[in-house]
Amino acid sequence: MRIYFDYNATTPLLPAVVDAMSTAERELFGNASSVHYFGQQAKAAIDTARSSISTLLNADPSEVVFTGGGTESDNFAIRGAAEALEPMKRRHLIASAIEHEAVINTLKALAKRGWTTTILPVDQSGIVSPDQLRDAITDSTAIVSVMHANNEIGTIQPIAELAAIAHERGALMHTDAVQSVGKLPVNVRSLGVDLLSLSAHKFNGPKGVGALWIKRGTRLQTMQTGGKHERGRRAGTENVAGIVGMGVAATLASGKLSAEAARVGELRNRLEDGILRTVSGTAINGARLSRVPNTTNISFDRIEAESLLIALDLEGVAVSTGSACSSGTLEPSHVLKAMGFPPHRTQNSLRFSLGAFSTDAEVDRVIEILPRLVEKLRGLTRKPQVAVTS
Ligand SMILES: Cc1ncc(COP(=O)(O)O)c(C=O)c1O
Repeated sequence: MRIYFDYNATTPLLPAVVDAMSTAERELFGNASSVHYFGQQAKAAIDTARSSISTLLNADPSEVVFTGGGTESDNFAIRGAAEALEPMKRRHLIASAIEHEAVINTLKALAKRGWTTTILPVDQSGIVSPDQLRDAITDSTAIVSVMHANNEIGTIQPIAELAAIAHERGALMHTDAVQSVGKLPVNVRSLGVDLLSLSAHKFNGPKGVGALWIKRGTRLQTMQTGGKHERGRRAGTENVAGIVGMGVAATLASGKLSAEAARVGELRNRLEDGILRTVSGTAINGARLSRVPNTTNISFDRIEAESLLIALDLEGVAVSTGSACSSGTLEPSHVLKAMGFPPHRTQNSLRFSLGAFSTDAEVDRVIEILPRLVEKLRGLTRKPQVAVTS
């Protein structure tokens, strides 16, 4: 039995998405910019997908711009706003300390080019405080970027409140909703933002396709120059099959959002309670109440997260650590660090993220095998009682 509990990394395609994409690959090969029948067929399919996505977000279809995924959408929002507002002497950018690298590294890159940046702290439950934003924002702030739901711990941020503060000072508000779209109702109007990023592969759509929702009238510099695709907002021949797949995934998500959130939430809670009950020295990282329903991030005392991840993988269970492994160096999770956890806790935590194909039997299996694996690893790392002789 192979168990996939890493839905926040990516999700499997739903069968209807695969079907729609393969039909599109076969039949909709025209260039959507072409005037003839083949081009217009492709264009119509893109427009249908655009309207499915706008329904999911409570947006207008004309405000949805397709991109190459969440990373590009985040770059487009932040770099586009920074460049558009620079002539108005707005050269200050704000983001939270728990943003995805797509946001954090974009701010770092712009800082090297002369923009000033402020990183907002979070409290120990992983939530940004509106008061911290009020203290940090100035009349030269161009954009505030705070994610809707965090990818590692699942916490949901008070976006509407933060957006109101940004707007009081004339700044734009962006939210990276890559981890909330398809898991929670995401309504761009009630969030009150100007820009919102999403990515198809996080809600059972294909990889390499996403969208940026741009509120009508928002000043934003185009990042990709070329033809007049996407109303001149994002040049490049459209990935028709990918966009069609994203549209179908959006429609399927819209249709079962609350039922699926309740189902997955129940599974997650049972998994979490089961682990806390059967494995000693465990604790949840982040606020339990204000979270997406599919995610839990659990700290295991006296465990190295990577060792437990590998032990689980050998038993057929795929999970993730919050940490990024770059060129062989294990970096502690920047999210858990920002929450003020001590170094051992930033390296002993695992993320379990569930989704569309997760089942009760899978939860039972993980609860069954985990205590034994943890005990074994703790036994291996126990300090040996060796008498020193000289
Ligand atoms: C919160 C968040 N933002 C952005 C991204 C990047 O999205 P993509 O993989 O589509 O580039 C991810 C993906 O892990 C994410 O979790």
